[in-house]
Order: sequence, then structure tokens, then C-alpha cells
Amino acid sequence: MACKLRRSSLSTTLLLLVFLSPFVVLVRAASVLGSQGRALLHWKSTLRSPQLLASWNVDSSPCNWTGVACNTARNGRLVISEIQLPNMSLAGPLDALNFSAFRSLANLNLSYNQLNGNIPPTISALSNLVSLDLTANRFTGRIPVEIGSMKALQFLNISENQISGPIPPSLSNLSRLTEMQLEINNISGVIPEELGRLRKLTYLALWTNQLSGSIPPSLGNLTNLNLLDLSQNQLTGFIPRELGNLINLVYFSLSNNSLTGPIPSSVGNQSKLEIVDLWMNELSGSMPPEIGKLHQLTTLALQINQLSGQIPPSLGILRNLIDLRLSYNHFSGSLPPEMNNITGLATFQLRNNNFSGYLPPAICKGGALWYLSLGNNSFQGPIPATLKNCTSLKNVRLHHNQLTGDVSEHLGVYPNLWYLDLSFNRLSGAISSDWGRWHNLESLRISNNNITGVVPSELGQLSKLEELDLSSNYFQGEIPRSLGNLAHLYNFNLSNNQLIGEIPAELGRMSNLELLDLSRNGLTGTIPYQIGNCMNLQLLKLNNNNLSGSIPFEIGNLVCLQYALDISHNSLTGDIPTQFGKLLMLQNLNLSHNGLTGNLPSTFRDMRSMFIIDVSYNELEGPVPDNKHFQEAPVEWFVHNKGLCGVVKGLPPCASSTANEHHGRKHNTVIFLSIVASMVVLLLLLAFVGIALPFQKTKKHTVQAVNNPIKQGTFSVLNFDGKVAYKDIIEATEDFDEKYLIGTGAYGSVYRAELSSGEVLAVKKIHLSEHENTVDEQPFQNEIETLTRIRHRNIVKLYGFCSSPHHKFLVYEYVERGSLGSVLRIEAAAAELDWVKRVNIVKDVARALSYMHHDCVPPIVHRDVTSNNILLDSEFKACVSDFGISRLLNPDTSNWSMLAGTHGYLAPGNILINIS
Ligand SMILES: *[C@@H]1O[C@H](CO)[C@@H](O)[C@H](O)[C@H]1NC(C)=O
Ligand SMILES: *[C@@H]1O[C@H](CO)[C@@H](O)[C@H](O)[C@H]1NC(C)=O
Ligand SMILES: *[C@@H]1O[C@H](CO)[C@@H](O)[C@H](O)[C@H]1NC(C)=O
Ligand SMILES: *[C@@H]1O[C@H](CO)[C@@H](O)[C@H](O)[C@H]1NC(C)=O
Ligand SMILES: *[C@@H]1O[C@H](CO)[C@@H](O)[C@H](O)[C@H]1NC(C)=O
Ligand SMILES: *[C@@H]1O[C@H](CO)[C@@H](O)[C@H](O)[C@H]1NC(C)=O
Ligand SMILES: *[C@@H]1O[C@H](CO)[C@@H](O)[C@H](O)[C@H]1NC(C)=O
Repeated sequence: MACKLRRSSLSTTLLLLVFLSPFVVLVRAASVLGSQGRALLHWKSTLRSPQLLASWNVDSSPCNWTGVACNTARNGRLVISEIQLPNMSLAGPLDALNFSAFRSLANLNLSYNQLNGNIPPTISALSNLVSLDLTANRFTGRIPVEIGSMKALQFLNISENQISGPIPPSLSNLSRLTEMQLEINNISGVIPEELGRLRKLTYLALWTNQLSGSIPPSLGNLTNLNLLDLSQNQLTGFIPRELGNLINLVYFSLSNNSLTGPIPSSVGNQSKLEIVDLWMNELSGSMPPEIGKLHQLTTLALQINQLSGQIPPSLGILRNLIDLRLSYNHFSGSLPPEMNNITGLATFQLRNNNFSGYLPPAICKGGALWYLSLGNNSFQGPIPATLKNCTSLKNVRLHHNQLTGDVSEHLGVYPNLWYLDLSFNRLSGAISSDWGRWHNLESLRISNNNITGVVPSELGQLSKLEELDLSSNYFQGEIPRSLGNLAHLYNFNLSNNQLIGEIPAELGRMSNLELLDLSRNGLTGTIPYQIGNCMNLQLLKLNNNNLSGSIPFEIGNLVCLQYALDISHNSLTGDIPTQFGKLLMLQNLNLSHNGLTGNLPSTFRDMRSMFIIDVSYNELEGPVPDNKHFQEAPVEWFVHNKGLCGVVKGLPPCASSTANEHHGRKHNTVIFLSIVASMVVLLLLLAFVGIALPFQKTKKHTVQAVNNPIKQGTFSVLNFDGKVAYKDIIEATEDFDEKYLIGTGAYGSVYRAELSSGEVLAVKKIHLSEHENTVDEQPFQNEIETLTRIRHRNIVKLYGFCSSPHHKFLVYEYVERGSLGSVLRIEAAAAELDWVKRVNIVKDVARALSYMHHDCVPPIVHRDVTSNNILLDSEFKACVSDFGISRLLNPDTSNWSMLAGTHGYLAPGNILINIS
């Protein structure tokens, strides 16, 4: 039917043609369009969803098709001049398109689709193409050499694909090219020096690739460049002096490479520069005073390099500077007084240098300052007076300096402040009750200062507070009951002060509390049983007080206790609650120096995670429960009691009744052996990562562990019996059957393992490398080393690992909803993720990164924070995972090479990764 109609309309046209000469043109045009149209239709038929281009059909002229535009050629013919199909969900290859049919095409835009396969070399037949945009597809293979013959090309953008191989030097023949964007691919090899011939280039973006070698000095010939971005590659060598010729440059980024040598003083010629971004290299020498000539400069990011010397006074001339980042260098001396003239700073980061002297008194005069990070220097004197009025402040880190003066005198009311760290200074005075009006505060750390006075009860109004660390000061008076209102608090540390009175029962209302340390004060009264309501507690330290009465059995219900339960050096009496046997994850239990009576509960046998259990200096009697760990325990843990006896070397043997018990458990010796084996491995690991164990016995292992942290054939799962858990995991996943697969990462696949006990775990099996049939040790060890160093609620918990010739896997807590990436990909799940939840996820991730960057020594850079590495639990709390390529930032080593990461997430200026 359609066919017939078409023919009849054609014959009508033919008939009319005889009479009306203008139609001659039209018909000839139609025949040309015919070959172009046929070429497009043929390509359409090779796409995975051709229906997306419904308007492309034989019944209409191609000039009327979606995304197609025509113009009249010089000879009067209508020809296709543009094909613009961005963001059309097109999937499939490009090579079926007959490019020879489009010699007049000026503009081809296929960006933001899912086109795959190679970029066909035949594309060079588009000899009049001015603009080629293939951004954000799935193209693989190399950049075709033939593109170099597309002489008309002015805009070339093939960014955000998976292109590999080198940049063909032939691209230097594109003499009209003004913009070249190849960023976010896997392009390797050197930057061809021939690119220096592209004199018209204004925009050269090669960031996030795997380019190596040095930067060719010939790039200095590209004097029209406005933007040069070579960041996040593997470039080495010096920054060529010739780049100083790029006098039109506005944006200059070489960050995240391994560049060495000095910052060339020729930078002073580039007077239009607004952004200079050289962070994370190995640059050395001092900051050239010529930087002071860059009057337009708004951002100077030099953090994480080896730069040294003083800050040149000329820096103070940069009135437009709003973002100054010099952290993690070796800068020294005091800040030049000229810096008082930079009043518009919003971000000011100098942490981890050797600065001394006073802080600039005019630091917030412009009222824009929100991020002030000057920690780990030797700054002295008071907090600058201008900070008192600086209501813009959000994030202030002045810790580890030698600041003095009255803390309340120099701080005002900060409605936006969410983070304040003044710890490890010499600040004095008392905390003002005004601090209760910092309504957005989430973290308050002023430990290790000389603060006196009471803890103001107004702090109980800081409803967003998550961290409160006032430890090692001279606080007096009682702990305010109002602090029980801090429902979000997870870290609460008042240790080493002069607090008196009872522990308020209200603290039991803090249901999110994970770390509670009230040790080393003068607290009296009993331990409130309500503490047993803080079900998330992982650490509880009440030691070195004057607490009396018996230990509430409710403490034994705190099954999350893991790092320590220390109630030593008090005057506690009565029995040890048998409920303590439920604390299966506990590693350190200290009940020493009290007046406890009765037996050690036999349930202690099951506390398999225990490294230290100190019950010395009490009134205890009876047998020490028999397991391998106790058999090897030092007698010091048990001395000075009324009559403990049994397995511990150095204690007297018990009467015969206990021997029966020993016999009864003998069949379990094999299991105990494996428990002990796994404990020893864990012990080595934990010792290795610096969890202090105050016993000589464990110190000896530390040395071994550093040399050989993970042995072949070892298996260790925290809180689980090694052998059983190993078998369980293999059974639960049916030897890693596909059907339990819940995710695949860069170097491992993650499986859901539901153990026979009902416990659900996530198990990451490390991929075997294709050729050698061995696993890549590096990410595996990296992940173990990193995750055993750190603990944070927004970082996934590692329970253990297995390293055997057959299997290498890591065992984690199971995070219910899986990765953020997978949630976003499922429409219904993504819809459930409203903006409030999304904002909270961002905050969670920021917290985890902040912790890694600021609280870990040395700091840790994750280097691959993607939506696939962010896990969501049932309450949408986010956890960062996958530390396979993470790196410890040891300021003493200069090894910043070996960059890796998922493309697009290590972009320059990316705040998630940016360390300062
Ligand atoms: C495009 O379609 C319009 C009507 O929809 C028609 O008038 C016009 O002639 C068509 N153009 C071509 C080149 O076929
Ligand atoms: C693609 O289209 C969607 C909706 O049609 C829009 O939300 C999105 O912003 C577009 N993306 C780009 C990169 O243009
Ligand atoms: C491609 O188009 C050109 C020009 O229209 C034509 O000569 C050639 O035969 C076409 N090739 C194929 C494989 O269709
Ligand atoms: C750069 O320009 C200089 C002269 O201005 C010339 O000698 C040199 O060969 C050029 N380099 C390249 C790679 O074009
Ligand atoms: C700051 O700027 C003022 C005027 O703009 C100038 O007089 C003064 O010398 C400058 N101070 C320093 C320390 O550079
Ligand atoms: C703070 O602001 C008040 C009023 O705006 C002003 O009187 C005072 O001088 C300012 N203090 C400082 C140290 O800038
Ligand atoms: C801080 O307190 C300690 C102990 O009282 C004292 O030795 C030291 O001098 C004080 N430091 C300052 C700066 O007040």
C-alpha cells in the first residue's frame, strides 16, 4: 500500500516536471538526498533501538528527520550539513555509517549516547567537517590516525569514552583546530611534541588519561591557549619553562601527575591566569615571587608537593585570590604581613607545613572565609580577632599548633559552623555558653588544651552534634544532664579532665553513641544501668574514676563493644556479670584494680576476639576458663586476686572439679587451634596498624608483621571461628556461584553469603589475572592494610580475609541496599532516594573522606570514590568501600606515582578527592 502510494506521487511529480522547470532542481536534490538518506537509514538499522529515530523513514525527506539539517550547496543542491543527535539513548556501532556520502557535513554531534566499537577510520571521509563531538559514549580502540586528514576540523571532542592507545601525531595537521578535548579516556603514550603546531588551539584538555613522559616544551608555541589541562595523568619531568609563553592562559592544571623540579618563574608572564592547579605532584623548590604578577589569580592550588621556603611577600598583592591551598608541603617561616591584604579568601589551607609565627590578623576581613585549615604547623599567638565576627565560617581546623589565649574571647557566634578542631594547642579560658548557639555544629574538638571551667549545659542544644571531644583539659564540675539530648552523638570524649559527680543516667538516651570515654576524671557514684541502652557502643572507657557499686549486667548487652571495655581503677564491687560472655567482638577488657568478687564467668571462654583481658587486683577466685588464649595469657592479667587458679602459667592448678570441664572441651582443641591461628594473624595485623597493645609479648610480633603482614594460606575472620567461617562462606556462596553475585568491582566480585548461623556477610573474591592465574596482591593487601587502620561509621567494616593459593577473599559487613550506583540505576529505587536522602549521602561520604584525610596519620586518599563504591544500608546511611587503590599519604615519602582510579572521579578540583 505504502509502496503504491509512493510510486503514484512520484509519477505525479514526473508529470508536473514537464511543465514546471523549478522542480528540476528539487528532483535532483532528492536523488542526492537519496544516497545520504539511504546511508543514514542503513546505519539506523544497525542501532540497538532504531525506534528511537522514528522520524527517519522513507516517507519523508531526510532534511526533515530528527537531528538532521540541510543547506543548499554551491551547485544548488540540498545536502545534509548537520547531524545532531546528542542525548538520544542511541546504542550500537558507528562503522556501518557510510561517511563517504556526507562530504558536505559540517557538524556531527553524537554526544551523550551509548555508541560503542571503534571510531571508524572512514570518518576521515567527512572532509568538510568543522565540528566532531563524540563525547560520553562507549567508544573503544584507538584514535584513528586518519582523523589528521580532516583539514576543516575546528572542534574535536572525543572525551569520556574508553579510547586507548596513543595520540596520533597526525592530529597536528589539523591546522584550523581551536578545541581539542580528549579527556577521560585511557589514552596512553607521550604527548606528541607535534601538537605544538596547532597554533590556533585555545582549549587543550587531556586530563584523566594515562599519558606519560614529559610535557613537550613545544606546547609553549600554543600562544592562543586559554585552557591547558593535563591533570590526572602519569606525566614526569619538569614543567617546561616555555609554558610561560602561554600568555593567554586562564586555566592551567597539571595536578595529579608526577612532575618534579621547580615551578618555573616564567609563570609570571601569564598575566591572565585565574586558576593555577598544580597539586599532587613532586614539585620542589620555593614558590616563585613572580606569582605576585598574576593579578587575576583567584585559585592557587599547590598542595601535596615538596615545595619549601617562605611564602613570597608578593603573594599578598593578589587581591583577587579566593582559594589558596598550600597544605602538605615543607613551607616554613611566618606568613608575610602583606598577606593581610588578601582579605577576600574563602578557602585558606596551609595545614601540614612548618609555618610559624602569628596568623594574619585580617584573615576574614572580606567576610567570605568559610574553610580555614591551618593544622599541623607551629603557629603561635592568639586566634585572630577578625575570626570573632567571621560568621561565614563553616569548617575550621587549627589543631596541632601552639595557639594561646582565651578561647572564648576570640570566638564568636557561628551559625554556619559545622566543624571546629582546636585540639593540641595551648588555648586557655572557659567555653562560653554562647557555643550552644552554633546550631549547625557537627564536630567539636578541643582536646589537649588548657581549657578550664565547666562544660556548659548549653552544649546540649547542639542538636546536630556528632562528635564532642573535650579530653585532656582542665574541665571541672559535673557532666551536664542536657548532653543526653545529643541524639546524633557517636563520639563523646571527656577523658582526662577534673570532672566530678555522677555519670548522668541521661547519657543512656544517646542511642547513636559508638565511642564513650569518661576515663581519668573524679566521677563518683554507680555506673548507670541506662548505659546499656547505648546499643551501638563499640568503646566504653570509665576507668580511673571513683565509681562504686556493682557493674550493671546491662553492660553485657552491648554486643557491639569491640575496641575496649575499660572500667579499671575504680572501686567497683560485686560479681562480674555473666552477660559479659556475650561480648563476642570485644578485643580488650580491663576490669583490673577494683574490688570485684566471685568467679570469672565460664562464658568468658566464648569471647574469641579478646586480645587482652586484665582482671588483676580484684578479689576474684576460682578457675580461669580454659581455652587456648587463656593458656597462653600472661599471668600479670590475673595476679593480685583472692584465688584464681587453672590454665594460666604461673597460677596454681585448680581442684579436680574443673579438670572435668577441661576434659569435656578437649574435642574442640582443633577448633581452638584454628581460632588461635586466626587470632594470631589478626593480632599481627592489628599490631601492625598500630593499635597499641601494652604488652611486650605482642610488641615482638609487630616486627614480624611489618615484614610479612599477610602470609599465604592464612585465614582470619574477626569474631568468627576461622575454619568454620571459611567452610561456611564457601558453602553459603556454593563456591562463589553467580547467583550470589551482588557486584563487581575493579579487582574483585562481591557475593552475598548467608552463613548457617543466619549472619549475612559480603565477600569479595579477588579476580584472577588472565594470563598468570594468580591474583594481583597489591589491591588485596592495600585494602586490608587500609581497612585495618581505620574505623569510621561511614567506612565499610572489614571483618576478615582469606589468603590461600586457591582463594583470596575479603569479608565485610553486609550493607543491605548495595551500591549507590546500582540504586540509581533502578528507577523505583532511585525515586525512593529523595533529595534529603541524597544530601545525607553526600554528607556521609564527605565525613568518611574528611576522616581519612584529616584524622588518619598518615592520611589516606581513596582515589576512586564513585557511586559504585558507596554502599547504602537499610536506613540509607552511606559507607565508602573498595580501598584497593587507596594510598597512604606519608608526607615523608615523595612517591606520588602510580595513579589510578575510575575515570571522571579524580577530576581536577574534585572536592571529594581534593586533599588539603
Ligand atoms: C519538511 O516538511 C514540511 C511539512 O512538514 C514540508 O512543507 C517541507 O517541504 C519538508 N521539507 C522537505 C525538504 O521535504
Ligand atoms: C539528557 O536528556 C535528559 C532528559 O531528556 C536530561 O535530563 C539530561 O540533562 C540530558 N543530558 C545531557 C547531558 O544533555
Ligand atoms: C557510500 O557512499 C558513496 C557516495 O554516495 C557511494 O559511492 C558508495 O557506493 C557508498 N558505499 C557503500 C558501501 O554503500
Ligand atoms: C615553536 O616555535 C619556535 C619558534 O617560535 C620554533 O623554533 C619551534 O620549532 C616551534 N616548535 C614546534 C614544535 O612547533
Ligand atoms: C596593603 O595595601 C595598602 C593599600 O592598598 C598598602 O598601602 C599597604 O602597603 C599594603 N600592605 C602591605 C603589608 O602590603
Ligand atoms: C565585629 O563587628 C562589630 C559590629 O559589626 C564591630 O563593632 C567590631 O569592631 C567587629 N570586631 C572586629 C574584631 O572586627
Ligand atoms: C597549660 O597548663 C599547664 C599545666 O597547668 C601549664 O604547665 C602550662 O604552662 C599551661 N600553658 C599555657 C599556655 O597556659
